[in-house]
Amino acid sequence: MAILPITVYGDPVLKKIASPIKQVDDGIIGLIQNMFATMRNANGIGLAANQVDIDKQIFIVDISPVEGYEKFKPVVMINPEIILQSDETVVMEEGCLSLPNLRADVERPEAIKVRYLDTDENIQEIEADDLFARVILHEYDHLIGKLIPDRVNEQIRKKLQEELELIRNREVKVDYPITPK
Ligand code: NI
Repeated sequence: MAILPITVYGDPVLKKIASPIKQVDDGIIGLIQNMFATMRNANGIGLAANQVDIDKQIFIVDISPVEGYEKFKPVVMINPEIILQSDETVVMEEGCLSLPNLRADVERPEAIKVRYLDTDENIQEIEADDLFARVILHEYDHLIGKLIPDRVNEQIRKKLQEELELIRNREVKVDYPITPK
């Protein structure tokens, strides 16, 4: 297993719609293992493949480090689709490993239903709410080229601009490997 450098704001792969996976082969399984190693090294609770510079529709979620979620089992979602979203929304502060040190309040649906392929290529459908739904929606956003600044209003986005430029220029302190400029 390898810890991979994490892409940050400004890296083109983060703005792309990720490519679907046709077959879950050994290369994909190896990638997933490296993604877990990379996420854990950075103390993250979710990671999408384009955050390790791989243009593929995969993300992983492990919220077990969060208080109250200790029993959560890590999940790998391949070619995910959000098939239902609640009208009810919640605002919660979010961070992102590709936006080091940045935090912003993001409004998202409280509950969702998601369809995805698991690593055995079985189609799964699950309902998620609360923090799990939020992390899925955040990671799904990565796969469609969207980041936190794309999910906040104009006023908040303006406030984030200076911080985003520092991140783009790697003028931030980060305690995990990131891609070179
Ligand atoms: Ni993120």
